[in-house]
Amino acid sequence: MPSIVAAIVGRRREAPRVRPRSVIPGRQRWDIGVVLGRPRVAELLQASLRESRGIEMVYANPATGRLLVCHDTALSRGEVDQLVRKTVALAARQAMTLTGSMPPKPGVMPSRGRRRQNTGSALVVSGGAAVALVVTRATFVRPSPLVGLGGVVVATVVVVRRAWRRSRLAQHVSAVSLRSKRHPLLQIAGSHKRQFYVASCASILVQILDMVPSILISWMAVVLITGKSAALVRLGLASVASQLWFLTGVTALASVVAAVLSFIAGVLWRDLAQSVQQEWRTEMYAHVQRVGLRYLEGERTTRIAGILTNDINQLGRFFAASADYFLKLGTSFLVLVPVFLFLTPGIAWVAFLPVPIVAWLSFSYHERSASDLATSSENVSLLNSQLVNNLEASATVKSFGAEQYEIDRIHHLSAVYRQTNRRIDKRAAAYTPTVRMCAMVSLSGILLLGGLDVLAGTLPFGVFNSLVGAPQLVLWQLPGLGDAVDQYQRTVAALGRVLDLRSLQVEPGGSGRPLDVAKVQGEMVLDGVTFAYPGRPPVLRNVSMRMAARKTTGIVGVTGAGKTTIAKLMLRFQDVESGRVLLDGLDIREVRLQDLRKAIGFVAQDAFLFDGTIDDNIRYGSFDAEPERVVSAARLAQADDFVEALPSRYDTMIGERGATLSGGQKQRLSLARAIVKSPPIVILDEATSAVDNETEAAIQRALKDFARDRTLVIIAHRLSTIRHADWIYVMDRGGVVAEEGTHHELIAREGVYASLWRLQIGEASA
Ligand SMILES: Nc1ncnc2c1ncn2[C@@H]1O[C@H](COP(=O)(O)OP(=O)(O)O)[C@@H](O)[C@H]1O
Ligand SMILES: [Mg+2]
Repeated sequence: MPSIVAAIVGRRREAPRVRPRSVIPGRQRWDIGVVLGRPRVAELLQASLRESRGIEMVYANPATGRLLVCHDTALSRGEVDQLVRKTVALAARQAMTLTGSMPPKPGVMPSRGRRRQNTGSALVVSGGAAVALVVTRATFVRPSPLVGLGGVVVATVVVVRRAWRRSRLAQHVSAVSLRSKRHPLLQIAGSHKRQFYVASCASILVQILDMVPSILISWMAVVLITGKSAALVRLGLASVASQLWFLTGVTALASVVAAVLSFIAGVLWRDLAQSVQQEWRTEMYAHVQRVGLRYLEGERTTRIAGILTNDINQLGRFFAASADYFLKLGTSFLVLVPVFLFLTPGIAWVAFLPVPIVAWLSFSYHERSASDLATSSENVSLLNSQLVNNLEASATVKSFGAEQYEIDRIHHLSAVYRQTNRRIDKRAAAYTPTVRMCAMVSLSGILLLGGLDVLAGTLPFGVFNSLVGAPQLVLWQLPGLGDAVDQYQRTVAALGRVLDLRSLQVEPGGSGRPLDVAKVQGEMVLDGVTFAYPGRPPVLRNVSMRMAARKTTGIVGVTGAGKTTIAKLMLRFQDVESGRVLLDGLDIREVRLQDLRKAIGFVAQDAFLFDGTIDDNIRYGSFDAEPERVVSAARLAQADDFVEALPSRYDTMIGERGATLSGGQKQRLSLARAIVKSPPIVILDEATSAVDNETEAAIQRALKDFARDRTLVIIAHRLSTIRHADWIYVMDRGGVVAEEGTHHELIAREGVYASLWRLQIGEASA
């Protein structure tokens, strides 16, 4: 009971400090005590927050204990507050269950903690125990070979399982394994399964052949020391010299074949890695192109881009880097364990005694260095950004006489960085000697026990001599185990994310009633439409509108009233919840999606221009339009003047090295793009919001002809944009139509529109 109380009190004292530092819409900075000096907690916190809806970017810094969260402005301050606190508590708890106890919080500079010393002492104890066991067992009792070996196997399994469970990636791995009966690696290999099997066979053969020379060389020594080998005499090799020739020949042959096979295996694995990446990349790019916008909107672009690049590369990386390793390690065990059990059962367990110890060393080395490397890279980026910041702000620094303050700040960060790196270097330097020590201890054990058996006459000298070095083959491979298991887990976790993305539904582009775009009249009707984004209150409530064929309809309203949403519904980026959207009297859900979108030209609020020339951008979607059409569209959109003034005119590259365009210029280019497409219906969503009033008026005059036989829907918050429309809808908050009519009718009505008009006219003349 007291221990429970103590635990609770102790945990209370550990209660993490979670405090907002600065909060502005869309961006919050926090002080999170529990993250300070704990890269794993920072990593967990980052990972969990990134999974949350509405969170766009997260950065938790273990060097400063700070957290930066950028989020969708639709999330309220309170919601983010709650989310952060909940996730911090969860991450802290998760870190505790993963490590058994929280790693010590070492102040800003993560220093050598209690656990690290535990590691060292545990190592010494286990090493000492091993030696003691070997020595005492050698002279007094010999365990039954199976019991001894069983113990070694159990210890190995315990080490590997523990390391596996501690990894935060393990849960992804089990999630992926649960989803399909097929092994994740076979799922990844896909249609390249044959190559996977062939490469596997090559790796296994290479390992077997690799073991041959070391055994044959020992055999040669036996032949030299003891005279002829009876086994070889039976093969017809009577003289020592011929036996030496034979053994040398086989050794050389095995080495040559192993080298050739090893080359083939290397090529096969790398080629498999490339093919797998290529196949998944092609499939996933095509898939993402076809996924409905409604699903993509819920995802962060950087996350999807991350899956399409990093995760897909990771799918191949395991085959290129670690598959060969696992097969070779497995083969070594499968060959050596039975050989030892069969030929020298008495010393088999000693030979493999270091396996669990080296495996454990490998995992703990990998785990520690991974978290230290993470801290180190955090620290270096912190140092860099501080430096850049400092240089950019040099006028401010000098004017406040803060040079010494800045010097101290950089000095401190640099010291933190050095401290982390020192620990990484020390650990790396200690790793190999420790592994070597373990291997040597086991070798001495085999020498002693085997030697005693040889003396007692229970073990032939030839067998002893041939096998004495064999376990080293396995031991030298083991140090890479931590890294290889990590690669495997990363690969399966990446597969999980790729499969999640692949499960997003694609649009049924080709099904439905075909539509002859040339015959479209262009009347669009919203009939009692209600719509809500997932998990949000309705944006549109029972909205009815009629966009008359070959007329101009204006939609105005405050930001967030749902104007863009109406455009999305007309294009079927989203589907209505209730009500209908009709095109020429036809429910658009019945129309073939491709045709619907061919019939509508859409200039989005945030005009997007692709990397390429201005010409490429205007003819986007109408790829084979004649140059004259491109120029005349640019003229209508009032883009011609500024394009002509650019150095390479229509061939000017847009982007870093080319012209940097203003918001209004970009808008005019995307307007030109819609004009080139020349569809029967055109929706302009705030398409001229960044254009000055004069140019806007010019665009309106120019578009008159273009709009004559088309249905034009103009969405705007500036009333001058739509005042000449044939019919105007005024949207109000709450997703309802507040007023409708022509400009003059609405002014006469003295309602929302009229007061907005007065306000904007006042603004314009102010
Ligand atoms: N993809 C989305 N997911 C969730 N909410 C959204 C999404 N797009 C818009 N909204 C919300 O719907 C409301 C209406 O948005 P929108 O149609 O863009 O308004 P407007 O174009 O009139 O400014 C806003 O409150 C906005 O936050
Ligand atoms: Mg909008």
